[in-house]
Amino acid sequence: MRKPLIAGNWKMHKTINEAVELVSALKRELFDFNQADIVVCPPFTALDNVHEIIMDTNIKLGAQNLFYQKQGAFTGEVSPAMIKDCGCEYAIIGHSERRKYFGETDTMVNKRIQVALEEGFTPIFCVGETLEERENNKTIEVIDIQLKGGLENMKEEDILKIVIAYEPVWAIGTGKTATPRQAEEVHMFIRKWIEEHYSSSCASMLRILYGGSVKAENIKDLMKQENIDGALVGGASLNADAFVSIVKNSSN
Ligand code: PGA
Repeated sequence: MRKPLIAGNWKMHKTINEAVELVSALKRELFDFNQADIVVCPPFTALDNVHEIIMDTNIKLGAQNLFYQKQGAFTGEVSPAMIKDCGCEYAIIGHSERRKYFGETDTMVNKRIQVALEEGFTPIFCVGETLEERENNKTIEVIDIQLKGGLENMKEEDILKIVIAYEPVWAIGTGKTATPRQAEEVHMFIRKWIEEHYSSSCASMLRILYGGSVKAENIKDLMKQENIDGALVGGASLNADAFVSIVKNSSN
């Protein structure tokens, strides 16, 4: 039985004060909720303050990215040790916005996942096709390439520590959610892919999240799908009531 995981990706939103306000509201509602694993991923600048608030709760902390070098002359990057210092246990890797706006390739994503694993984080590895790719019937091909690239050289024991998020790019921030069926089709492909490249027990333990315009209103139908184990939530994670409802609706 895979426990649902709901992760909030705050993206480039929230100053420290705003982040503290939001996470304090989440803590009031969710501090002892244990039917789902809950993760919040604030911007780097607010990690430390948010961690202080959620330290003794079921809400875990994640970073939105990490760099694959341990230290050095890499202006503007943040190392695994730095985010660990702030209390992070998870790291989002390969988000489509990183790929699109910051030129992250599958090879870079792969290096980031490897470092994240070495440093004991749970990587939330994102894959997903663009609208053009979907319309050209390339969805499966694209996901296959992203899985091959992102997971290159990973062993079964590594896969057991990874969470995969399927996020169709056309559904991110657009209000257009993939239908539960469209999402399930890709989730099933991902699970089969892991089964073929690793083992069926590894595939059956892997958590695969859906991301793209998830709201309190659509999470239940998404979670009814056999291969959807949770969600990576952007916009709706910025509002405490909305995120709390998504978390609560994910497990019943
Ligand atoms: P959204 O973003 O929920 O605002 O569509 C999801 C994501 O980018 O992780």
